[in-house]
Amino acid sequence: MSPFETILVETHERVGLVRLNRPQALNALNNTLLRELMDALTEFDNDPSIGAIVLTGNEKAFAAGADIKEMADASAVDMLQRDAISQFDRIRQVKKPIIAAVSGWCLGGGNELAMSCDMIVASETARFGQPEINIGVIPGAGGTQRLARTIGKAMAMEMVLNNRTLTAEEALQFGLVNHMFPVETYLEEAVKLAGEIANRAPLALRLGKEAIDHALDSFLSEGLADERRAFYLLFASSDQKEGMTAFIEKRKPEWKGY
Ligand code: CAA
Repeated sequence: MSPFETILVETHERVGLVRLNRPQALNALNNTLLRELMDALTEFDNDPSIGAIVLTGNEKAFAAGADIKEMADASAVDMLQRDAISQFDRIRQVKKPIIAAVSGWCLGGGNELAMSCDMIVASETARFGQPEINIGVIPGAGGTQRLARTIGKAMAMEMVLNNRTLTAEEALQFGLVNHMFPVETYLEEAVKLAGEIANRAPLALRLGKEAIDHALDSFLSEGLADERRAFYLLFASSDQKEGMTAFIEKRKPEWKGY
C-alpha cells in the first residue's frame, strides 16, 4: 500500500487496519489525513484478500475533530472550494464492513467519522461529543443527521447545542456503540469482531450492509423493496447454494465470493 504521512496501515489475516497517526494534534482531521484515510479505505476495499476493515486512533484519541488550525482563518468561499468534507462521501462508497475502534476523545468530525463506519467498538475511556458550538459552528460532516437517527432527537440536541459528551457506558446505552471493553483490549476485540465478519459470505455482507444503509436513507416501503430484491439476487450466487447445502449437510460452508 502507498506510503502515508498521517496514517499507518497493517493487515491481520483478512482484516485491514488503519490507524490515524497525528498524536501531537489528537488526530485532528486535516485535509491530508482525510485524503490519505479515504485512499487507504479504498485500497482495502479493492483488495480481495481483505474482508473487513478496522479504523482506529490511539488510546488517548480516536480523533478530536476537524483541524481547527487549518480552517480558523478560512472564508466561506475557501471552505466551499476546499470542500474537505466531501472526502467523507468516499467512506459511504466503501462496500466492505468498517468497524471504528474508539478510545479517548471522539469529538466533532472524529465522532462523525466514527458514525460513518458500520459499527463502533469503544474502550471504557472513550468520550463522544460534538463540541462545535464551543467554537461558533455546528457539525458539518453528518453529526446532526446521524446522531438524531442513532440516539434520538433529545440527546442529539443536548450534544450539539450544549456540548454534552457521552461516556462509553452512555454511548452503549444509547446504541451509538456496539461493545465496550477495557482500554487494554478494545482494539484486539475490534479486530477479532472484524475477523469473524471478514470470513463470512462476501456478497451477502455487501448487500446486507447496503440494505441497512438504505434503511436510514429511505421510506420503509422503498427500503423493504430494495432489501427483497437484494435477497432474491443472492440466489444467483454460488455462495447461496454452498451456504444452504452446507447447512443441510451439517458442515461448514466454504465461501467463494461469487
Ligand atoms: N484541531 C487542531 N488541533 C487540535 C484539535 C483540533 N480539533 N484538538 C486538539 N488539537 C491540538 C491542540 O491544539 C494541542 O496542540 P498544541 O500542543 O500544539 O497546542 C494538542 O492537540 C493537544 O490538545 P490539548 O492541549 O487541547 O489537549 P487537552 O487534553 O488539554 O484537551 C480536548 C483535549 C478537550 C480534546 C481539546 O484538545 C479540544 O477541545 N479540542 C478541540 C475539540 C473540538 O472542538 N473539535 C471540533 C472541531 S470542529 C469540527 O470537527 C467540524 C466538523 O464537524 C467537521
